[in-house]
Amino acid sequence: MNSSADFDSSTPLAREIADLNRRRRAIAGQQFPLPAATRVMTVSNQKGGVGKTTTTVNLAAALARGGARVLVIDLDPQGNASTALGVERHPNTASIYDVIVDETPLADAVQHSPESERLWCVPATIHLAGAEIELVSLVAREQRLRTALDQYLTAQEEPPHYVLIDCPPSLGLLTINAFVAAKEVLIPIQCEYYALEGLSQLLRNIELIERHLNPDLRVSTILLTMYDGRTNLANQVAAEVREHFGNEVLQTMIPRSVRVSEAPSYGQSVVSYDVNSSGSLSYLEAAAEIAARGADR
Ligand SMILES: Nc1ncnc2c1ncn2[C@@H]1O[C@H](COP(=O)(O)OP(=O)(O)OP(=O)(O)O)[C@@H](O)[C@H]1O
Ligand SMILES: [Mg+2]
Repeated sequence: MNSSADFDSSTPLAREIADLNRRRRAIAGQQFPLPAATRVMTVSNQKGGVGKTTTTVNLAAALARGGARVLVIDLDPQGNASTALGVERHPNTASIYDVIVDETPLADAVQHSPESERLWCVPATIHLAGAEIELVSLVAREQRLRTALDQYLTAQEEPPHYVLIDCPPSLGLLTINAFVAAKEVLIPIQCEYYALEGLSQLLRNIELIERHLNPDLRVSTILLTMYDGRTNLANQVAAEVREHFGNEVLQTMIPRSVRVSEAPSYGQSVVSYDVNSSGSLSYLEAAAEIAARGADR
């Protein structure tokens, strides 16, 4: 077998392959440090198509691969996270809608994902599309997810190490429920021209939630997605985001990769679809960073 040393390391392709091999060896079989208490993270950005769902699903799979128990809550009526994790989402399936609107216990809606023995998902069905409006007239409309999740976590003998909540691209009541249920916000930012547009509105909303509804909430993690290192624009956006946010920004950036975009159509994360692809490696590295950051808290 060729080792990376056999390549002429002077060409860019050879350097890229050698770099991928080095990263693969570094992450292979790595077990992540586990948090002492469940970390509830909401993956949010009101901008559409920035990689929220892709990040939720692949980080969850990566964390599970690293040894953590992970629960994904699909809070987007589009239900893309449920589909990508291979769980049922027929209209009659118990879902996050029943939990939030009808106070069905969360445990009744949790499904095991075929993706990993340590990965579960509460699916979203088509009913969730009406929830924004139905919630308006309900008691404690901003706290319903939190109440359900707290009850669930308290009752579990082996609670998940991570709960990741996939939000819809809006700042409505569903997203507010996610902000109230979580302690951490993870913001995926797409490396493109309008990346920072709307971000100040998102941060203002998080600040308002922190002040009035959830004093524990903070933006803990920013992840740059769909990064294409060949373009100056992507590098400029990445530099600007790092300058703006500093410590919260993960070192790892998720590259734009065909493997990442085709994995969901197989009902798989990129981590199980093609573990050695650059997208999978990057999500594993991002998960390792998140795990390491949580370990010392
Ligand atoms: N790293 C990547 N490389 C290539 N394609 C990607 C990558 N990340 C996401 N995509 C693709 O970009 C599109 C949007 O991604 P995704 O659905 O994760 O965004 P989103 O923020 O959840 O969108 P929405 O706001 O609609 O919920 C999808 O088609 C996805 O497959
Ligand atoms: Mg989405």
